[in-house]
Amino acid sequence: MSFFFSKIKGVNKNNTIKSIGILTSGGDAPGMNAAIRATVRYGIHYGFKMYGIQRGYLGLLEGDIQSMSLSSVANIIQRGGTILKTSRSKEFTTVKGRQKAAHQLAAHLIDALVVIGGDGSLTGAYHLQKETGIKIVGLPGTIDNDMYGTDETIGFDTAVNTALQAIDRIRDTASSHDRLFLIEVMGRESGFIATHAAIGGGAETVVVPENKTNLHEICSAIDRGIKRGKLSSIIIVAEGKQGGGMATQIAHQLSQKNYNPRVCILGHTQRGGSPTAQDRALASALGAAAILELKKGKSNVMVGLQNNNIKLTPLKTVATKRKKLDPRLIRLVNILAK
Ligand code: F6P
Repeated sequence: MSFFFSKIKGVNKNNTIKSIGILTSGGDAPGMNAAIRATVRYGIHYGFKMYGIQRGYLGLLEGDIQSMSLSSVANIIQRGGTILKTSRSKEFTTVKGRQKAAHQLAAHLIDALVVIGGDGSLTGAYHLQKETGIKIVGLPGTIDNDMYGTDETIGFDTAVNTALQAIDRIRDTASSHDRLFLIEVMGRESGFIATHAAIGGGAETVVVPENKTNLHEICSAIDRGIKRGKLSSIIIVAEGKQGGGMATQIAHQLSQKNYNPRVCILGHTQRGGSPTAQDRALASALGAAAILELKKGKSNVMVGLQNNNIKLTPLKTVATKRKKLDPRLIRLVNILAK
C-alpha cells in the first residue's frame, strides 16, 4: 500500500473549518462504511467536529443530522451498505433545493462536507459548492467504476468479486448440462463490471452498453466454442440503458436462431456484501485523504486513485467527464475465449 498519502504532505494551519458533515448518496457500494469510518476517525484525530447526515441529500434537506464520535463508526469496516443510509433526491437537483441544503448546513454550523457517491452525487456536490460556496470534498463511491479522476471506485472490486462467485457457480451447472448461459450484471451506461467479470470468469464474450449489441458476433463466439468441442458457454451482459432486461432480450433473439439459452440476472446482489480487502483499503485511504485535503484548505475536488497515487480532480471535471472503458479489455475477453 505504498501509494497511500504519497502526494499528501503538510497541513495548512490557517484553515477555518471546524466542523465537517459526511453523507453517502446514490446507489450504495460496499466500502462506503469503511470510508465513513476513516473520515470520521481522521476528522476527530485532527480536531474537527464530525456530523453524519442521514439518507444522503434527502436527509440533508430535512436536517436529519447527528454528531458522530469515534464509537459511532465502531464495528462497521466489514459491513456492506452504508450506516448513514442513502437516497436519490429530486429536490436536490434544483437550485432551490440546494439553497435549502445550504441553509441546513449553516443552521447546524457545518463548515464543510464530505460526499461519498457516484457521478450523479458528485455532480450535485459540484452545483452545491458553485452556488453556495460550501467547501466539499468528494469520494468516488459506486460499484460501476465509471467515474473520471479515479482508476477505481469504492465498491467496484467487491461487486466484480460477487459477480465472479456467481459466474463460477453457474459454470458448474452450465458444464454439467452442456448449456449456454447469459449472465446479466449491473451497468446501465458502462461495462466495467461486465468486462472485468468476463475476464475473470473466462466468458465467451461480453456485451457492454458502450458498444452496439451485435447478435452475429455473439453467435460466432458461441459457435467458435462448439467447434472445438465446448458444449457450455457463458456470456456476460451489462444490464444496459434500460436498467435491466438486456440479457433476456438477447436470449430471446438467440432462441429464434435455435440456441437454447438460460438467463441469470445478478441484479442488486452485486451491491451488497462485505467489502473486499482492496475496497476497505481504498475507502480508508480516500476517507483519510478527504480530511487531510480539507485541513490543508483544499476543497471542491474529488480524491481518487490514479496510478497508485491519491490525486485530486476538480468536482467540475468529475461532473462533466466520463471515464472510458478500454476497448482492449473486450478484445482480451474475446481472444482468451478462443
Ligand atoms: O449506480 C450503481 C447502480 O448499481 C447501477 O449499476 C444500476 O444500474 C443502478 O445503480 C441501480 O439503481 P437502483 O438503486 O435505482 O436500483
